[in-house]
Amino acid sequence: MDAIRVRGGTPLQGRIPIAGAKNACLALMPATLLTEEPLTLTNAPRLSDIRTMGLLLESLGAEVAALQDGRVLALASHTPTEPRADYEIVRRMRASVLVLGPLLARLGRAEVSLPGGCAIGARPVDLHQMAMERLGAELELRDGYLHARAPRGLRGAVVEFPVVSVGATENTLMAATLARGTTVIRNAAREPEIVDLAQCLRAMGARIEGEGTSEITIEGVHHLHGATHRVVPDRIELGTYMLAPAIAGGEVECLGGRLDLVAAFAEKLADAGVEVSETADGLSVRRTGDRVRAVDVQTAPFPGFPTDLQAQMMALMTTAEGTSQLEERIFENRFMHAPELGRMGARIDVQGGVATVTGVDRLKGAPVMATDLRASVSLILAALAAEGETVVRRVYHLDRGYERLEEKLGACGADIERIRE
Ligand code: EPZ
Repeated sequence: MDAIRVRGGTPLQGRIPIAGAKNACLALMPATLLTEEPLTLTNAPRLSDIRTMGLLLESLGAEVAALQDGRVLALASHTPTEPRADYEIVRRMRASVLVLGPLLARLGRAEVSLPGGCAIGARPVDLHQMAMERLGAELELRDGYLHARAPRGLRGAVVEFPVVSVGATENTLMAATLARGTTVIRNAAREPEIVDLAQCLRAMGARIEGEGTSEITIEGVHHLHGATHRVVPDRIELGTYMLAPAIAGGEVECLGGRLDLVAAFAEKLADAGVEVSETADGLSVRRTGDRVRAVDVQTAPFPGFPTDLQAQMMALMTTAEGTSQLEERIFENRFMHAPELGRMGARIDVQGGVATVTGVDRLKGAPVMATDLRASVSLILAALAAEGETVVRRVYHLDRGYERLEEKLGACGADIERIRE
């Protein structure tokens, strides 16, 4: 199994290209099920989660071709044959549930395995279910599968979410494009990935207004056509690499990075004493002092501080001057990285949804274990600043969301390599 070895202590200097967003791409790919014409996605990230979504779409009868070394995805769903998202694939990736809305809209039926538990929380799909029911579908849970039917097609409705859900907003948005009449999504997620999906659907002929706000209106159309769409830059990959010079020292320019994608996060970095500036090609990040200052963070839906950067921010806070509190408000179990950071000498006390981090002078390298995608990368970041050698095991988590991570950091001078154990 692969592991990553890091020898810490080298300040970073260089430029890191930011890939297309994994979570945008995972929502854009199922949109192919809405039309018989081809959908082409450019700037796609080369990640195992993207390959998994490709396999899922193929199992539903779609054609999936990765061109230009995986940067371009050519998708087509001429005649979807199989409306069943099998447990074997869904259990590997929860985003599989995003085929529910498109399948229902196109075929009037879908069978999607329930994803089950997850390392970061229970993550139910009740909001997806509720939204499809509002659009006129009948859903039943049988044999671990959601069986959904809309024999007379979907019809527009008001769908009001009690809590903000990225995935449920995406499913509703896709389903509503082909529904009869108008759908209004209230308390919609405002994430850049939602805006990206709406833009792609509009290029396919959908009639959508209000994406990026908490109320999205969709007027159903009879038919969508093909399109070519460029995937938005990955704001979580961007935030992660912005933290690398903040934690290890030095200066890194994130190519393609956009401040509007990470505004709340960049503000916290500035409060901590990290300089972020816009350049012609992206964002440049530099640590000004020897140590950063402690800052408190609460995760929230966009435009708040992203839960997907909480673990990485915690890595930065482990060596900050002072004590910081990080409150996780989206997922109930997203502090699995805390005990692993503790193995490197971090002082972290977790009580319920709040982690209190007391900064130490220096972390020390140690063997550690990745537990989920963002937790893994927080350990890599911590290792960049730690004294001595760190080996991060179970890096298959990392490969779900970061392409060529060791190359990107290595090009900035980090002493990092992938090893096979
Ligand atoms: C998306 O997951 C992302 N995944 C996650 O990224 C991200 O952490 C999350 O949004 C929050 O920003 C993808 O886009 C593929 P939610 P999603 O529905 O859509 C609860 C990463 O590291 N909820 O917005 O599954 C849920 O349990 C990943 O890249 C329900 O209760 O998240 C959570 O507490 C991890 N019922 C909250 O809502 C539902 O039916 C927000 O979840 C759906 C969600």
